[in-house]
Amino acid sequence: EFGVSELWDPVVRRDPHRFYDRVRATGRPVLQIDPAGNRFWVIAGHADVLEGLRHPAIGHEVHRRCPGGRQPAWHELSEVARIEARQLISLDPPDHTRLRGLVSGGFTARAVARLEPWISQLADRLVARARQQGRIDGIADLADPVPVNVIAELIGIPEPDRPQFRAWSAAIVSASIDSSAATLAFAAYLDELAARRRAVPADDLISQLVAHEEQGDRLDRDELVALVQLLLIAGQETTVDLISNGIRLLLTHPDQWQALRDDPLLAAAVVEETLRFRGPVEIVPPRFALEDVEIAGGRIPAFDRVGLSLWGANRDPTVFDRPHVFDIHRTDVRKHIAFGHGIHFCLGAHLARLESRIMFERIAQQLPDLRLAVDPAVLDGFRLHHDGLPLEV
Ligand code: HEM
Repeated sequence: EFGVSELWDPVVRRDPHRFYDRVRATGRPVLQIDPAGNRFWVIAGHADVLEGLRHPAIGHEVHRRCPGGRQPAWHELSEVARIEARQLISLDPPDHTRLRGLVSGGFTARAVARLEPWISQLADRLVARARQQGRIDGIADLADPVPVNVIAELIGIPEPDRPQFRAWSAAIVSASIDSSAATLAFAAYLDELAARRRAVPADDLISQLVAHEEQGDRLDRDELVALVQLLLIAGQETTVDLISNGIRLLLTHPDQWQALRDDPLLAAAVVEETLRFRGPVEIVPPRFALEDVEIAGGRIPAFDRVGLSLWGANRDPTVFDRPHVFDIHRTDVRKHIAFGHGIHFCLGAHLARLESRIMFERIAQQLPDLRLAVDPAVLDGFRLHHDGLPLEV
């Protein structure tokens, strides 16, 4: 009853939720063939996605188990491939556990709360500039500058280098040939910065990582580069997406926009409901069944890909009342899993929540006349990142 590659069909892309509703209703994983021709099992129920995210036999390092999947020796890999292979997000325990332990202290609620005054100042500057301009692009002028500057501050990238840092971030995620070149340039830059921090430590993440590196072999050079690169790219497009979709949803739901202007303390609720209703991550980076796995009412053969849909889980009617309605007053919102779950739970969740909450607060307080400068119907077909979000202040 499902097309072989329906998930990627342009018609389904326009409204993936109807597809996920149907997948969920079958009560089992649904087989799709991905654009590269791989078998890809979609799971879309809330409880089932949680089970998948926790499952010890669903993971990333399939080459360790797969008979045909010989792991290449490190010296056979290019520098870019080596760095990519060391990304926290694509490792299983025990390497994942070790690397995550080295950075997690910098991202606790308490650690990121220290950044609140700094982020508030940044937000005030962006909002003040928008007010002067009158007509703005919600992406370029409000959302885009936030995460890259915040992560640069946290990592310890000196201010004059930040425009370059932003350009690398864009190039690395672009999946073009520029991406490898940017990875190499970024790695070389980090080598230099790490050397400076080794000589004179500062109160920043690079200095902490360098200290680990020096205390033995707990973190090698490629791992350091991979970690910092992941922090940059995992938090950029996702946070921009959250802030810009939050603005769009508020402006297309006038009663809720009014409620936020009347009570800016609702900003935290806007963050959570935007994450649930239109989270930045549709499906977590695909995993593999590391052996035959019984899950979600079905059986996934060893070495097939598993697609755990956060969009599906966050609209599950057995968990959320009227799941397809955007409602910042709902009381069940905290059950959303837009940041994932389990060992890979988003490291930057506290930071992303803080940044977007401050932005929504400041926008409601200081840009009360903000409105869309395009027909909302046109916006439905927009890919906000590429087409922008035209606004009048
Ligand atoms: C992992 C979502 C912002 C850093 C994840 C995962 C999700 C996610 C769903 C789990 C991926 C998986 O299970 O494979 C989001 C969303 C964000 C956001 C929705 C913004 C609204 C950030 C920020 C940072 C960040 C600001 C940077 C500080 C990471 C890292 C991981 C991760 C390092 C990998 C963790 C691991 O593998 O242990 N994120 N993220 N994220 N996120 Fe975020």
